[in-house]
Amino acid sequence: MAEVATSVLHNVGNVLNSVGVSAELATSKVREFRTGSLKNVAELLQQNSADLPAFLTTDPRGKMLPDYLLKLAVHLAEPQQAILQEMEMLKKNIDHIKEIVAMQQRYARGTGVVEVLSVADLVDDSIRINAASFTRHEVNVACEIAQVPPLKTDRHKVMQILVNLLSNAKHALDQSEGDRRMMVRVTQNQEGMLEIAVIDNGTGIPPENLSRIFSHGFTTKKLGHGFGLHSGALAAKELGGTL
Ligand SMILES: Nc1ncnc2c1ncn2[C@@H]1O[C@H](COP(=O)(O)OP(=O)(O)OP(=O)(O)O)[C@@H](O)[C@H]1O
Ligand SMILES: [Mg+2]
Repeated sequence: MAEVATSVLHNVGNVLNSVGVSAELATSKVREFRTGSLKNVAELLQQNSADLPAFLTTDPRGKMLPDYLLKLAVHLAEPQQAILQEMEMLKKNIDHIKEIVAMQQRYARGTGVVEVLSVADLVDDSIRINAASFTRHEVNVACEIAQVPPLKTDRHKVMQILVNLLSNAKHALDQSEGDRRMMVRVTQNQEGMLEIAVIDNGTGIPPENLSRIFSHGFTTKKLGHGFGLHSGALAAKELGGTL
């Protein structure tokens, strides 16, 4: 399950980055609050409490107070709005982390369990595990899922395969200048077998590499291991299918 665990950590890490940025922004906005000015106004009023009407109507500082307070209120409203927005964002990101962790727990129960599952849910989960990364890399992910019967399978193995395919697709898009698109298409073929295709408009695979990509250790990436497709193919075989 290394693929899923790595993706989970990577994505939680990404979301935590956004959480950090939001916290930072909110803190700097709080610093903008001119609470000192409010204190000065209160002190001024206190010093003149013996005859406030006279202070407000005749003293030049007193006469400026209503206008000043109004400006202060406007000034305080702006950072308040910005902080509220950041807090919203924080809450969303924290919910997202919770979701990713909950998903990981669903998949951490150990392999070898066969359940009746919805393919759409499996596809959805595999995309969501990588969602933060797709957003960050501006990858547009679409799904086309045909009406297919529920699947009796081991969710770990399917996830392991899908997560690596999605991660490969994302890597293939890393160098793309134009729009980065990915599509997961689920269909049922003429033999009644389910087909899940992960399609990207990235670099593509040179023909000479096509026969090698499933070999253990074959990678063209600086930090790649070349395990993903190899173990994915084995997992698919164990499920009675092919990759
Ligand atoms: N969608 C894709 N587009 C282009 N090349 C791909 C794609 N998927 C796989 N490849 C090629 O196949 C190679 C093997 O993929 P595989 O998933 O087995 O290993 P990897 O991604 O390099 O490393 P890892 O072990 O981390 O998955 C990749 O290094 C890449 O050259
Ligand atoms: Mg891979």
